[in-house]
Amino acid sequence: MECAPMKPHEIFTDELESISDPKARELVRDVLVNLETANLYFYKAPASRSRSFHPPCCNVQSGLLRHVKRAVSIGHHLCTAYGMSQRERDIVTAALILHDIWKNDFQRHASRAGDYVFEIIINNTDKYASIGAEFMAEIIRAIRLHMGRWAEPELRKPIPDYSLVELVVYTADYISSRNDIGMPQQDTCDLPIEIECDLVK
Ligand SMILES: [Fe+2]
Ligand SMILES: [Fe+2]
Repeated sequence: MECAPMKPHEIFTDELESISDPKARELVRDVLVNLETANLYFYKAPASRSRSFHPPCCNVQSGLLRHVKRAVSIGHHLCTAYGMSQRERDIVTAALILHDIWKNDFQRHASRAGDYVFEIIINNTDKYASIGAEFMAEIIRAIRLHMGRWAEPELRKPIPDYSLVELVVYTADYISSRNDIGMPQQDTCDLPIEIECDLVK
């Protein structure tokens, strides 16, 4: 049996399916599909060109996709830990899938990502109307604020003023981008553990 090659956006099939609101899922999917022509770099980029941050598995070609998938997974854990509603979880998922879609322009990538999603909504207002204006605004705000303390100056606001959704998106992205938290380092995995006492008698 021949397998059809996977389209780039299909890498996020599981994450898309975790969005319970069908129209919100469609919006996120539409953005991902549009990027296949508008910004294929998103699907090919390493998570960090400088390699200063991010685990090694994310600093390879298309490693940005691993970073995003890890961020969504961490975001879901935080939603569970904080007892957030399904609506909030949908917003967190949508924002995390889309938060780095314009990483080409690192200094302004958060605002560019938010602007890009906003533009798609504005050009298809009837299609996405049922999602609700506030729901979509929360997705865009969380994308724009995902850099937290390092957000673009004109977007920045004090962390204590973040909504829980914004805080979860920022935190999940932060954890996903650090090599020494959120996933074991290979060095740590390979560390020989020598216990001198014999626990099994
Ligand atoms: Fe980012
Ligand atoms: Fe990120």
